[in-house]
Amino acid sequence: MKPVRVGLLGLGTVGGGTFNVLRRNAGEIARRAGRGIEITHAAAREYEPAGLPGIDTIEVGDDAFALVENPDIDIIVELIGGYEPARELVLRAIANGKHVVTANKALIATHGNEIFAAAQKQGVMVAFEAAVAGGIPIIKAVREGLTANRIEWIAGIINGTGNFILTEMRDKGRDFADVLAEAQALGYAEADPTFDVEGIDAAHKLAILASLAFGIPLQFDRVYTEGIGHITRDDVSYAGQLGYRIKHLGVTRRTGQGVELRVHPTLIPEKRLIANVDGVMNAVLVQADAVGPTLYYGAGAGAEPTASAVVADLVDVARTMTVDSENRVPHLAFQPDSLSNLPILDMDDVETSYYLRLCAADEPGVMANITRILGDSGISIEAVIQKEPPEGEQQVPIIMLTRRVREQQMNTAIRQIESLASVQGTITRIRMEHLGNE
Ligand code: HSE
Repeated sequence: MKPVRVGLLGLGTVGGGTFNVLRRNAGEIARRAGRGIEITHAAAREYEPAGLPGIDTIEVGDDAFALVENPDIDIIVELIGGYEPARELVLRAIANGKHVVTANKALIATHGNEIFAAAQKQGVMVAFEAAVAGGIPIIKAVREGLTANRIEWIAGIINGTGNFILTEMRDKGRDFADVLAEAQALGYAEADPTFDVEGIDAAHKLAILASLAFGIPLQFDRVYTEGIGHITRDDVSYAGQLGYRIKHLGVTRRTGQGVELRVHPTLIPEKRLIANVDGVMNAVLVQADAVGPTLYYGAGAGAEPTASAVVADLVDVARTMTVDSENRVPHLAFQPDSLSNLPILDMDDVETSYYLRLCAADEPGVMANITRILGDSGISIEAVIQKEPPEGEQQVPIIMLTRRVREQQMNTAIRQIESLASVQGTITRIRMEHLGNE
């Protein structure tokens, strides 16, 4: 069979990695795919030829639109990132009957519904394994490996940069900005690193996972998103004293009322495997009814780990491009006419446990006032630490863990506690998940 001809858009970190992996493992890949997969054209505004041996054997230009119109190309690999012109390029490629492989989570999370509808109409595939958790084959696992199950929830560390920052803060007491600069230099961080630290990148990935798990349309705009910028070294340390680690988690859960879709810093028991996923590594924990919990771990960013997922998609597309489009794996795991309109829950309606840290006057009755407000709000306390006041100060840090309660009830209680004269400043609130199979 003739080799599949691929046009590569972007020769940055992931584009370069894809070029190198495909070239290095060409023989092994062809044995798996049943035919060769050859990058014949690439488009890049700038690239470093020194790191790309063999790049001079293909046609490299700077016009990405020329590639999506080129009739000699079978598959377009979009590794430019961002919303535009990536969206327009992908839609043009689809309109021209080309299959698409992309690592672009922002594009899939925000425009995936439109892109998949166009692809279905044209009978082409859009593969996006590299869009979630880099090299971990989590899309394959959720979309194909777990099809027997009713998936109950997914919790993931799905941003390597954020995990690297939290790990370095905990282990080495390093500054936030200093660690972020290192993640940028290593090529892990997004072009706009606020996407990493504010949780937007994780929210893109979570929106995709939720669609695959529950068979719902992509709804990135409904993800509740909170970053890690307000987490202090004290919080990391107090959490540790209580037997927890703070991780920036994406959580999606099917409840009787709707689907939870949220990204925020989260305390998790340190005995959970996922609590011990450190540095730039990612992990996704999936709770499903038949198999129980399964955990997927690996590199969530970087040139070759992400290329591993891109090339796996290329092999999948090469194998199935001759298959009747009705018999391919659906883009969102469920048949497009069987997607469900389950509502997404407002954050106010989500139920979880909490870590609270506040600063209060060191005088009689203060703790009683605080616990009375929590008790009157139906909030049960699981643990409390009160620290000695620092030398010469009259304020003491108080740390509490609560049992599960609706977010709205917790917000009301926090406002009441903050209004007490004996409580100084605002309360730090971090959500907490036990991640057992309850
Ligand atoms: N900026 C992302 C991360 C890259 O740090 O995880 C992979 O999507």
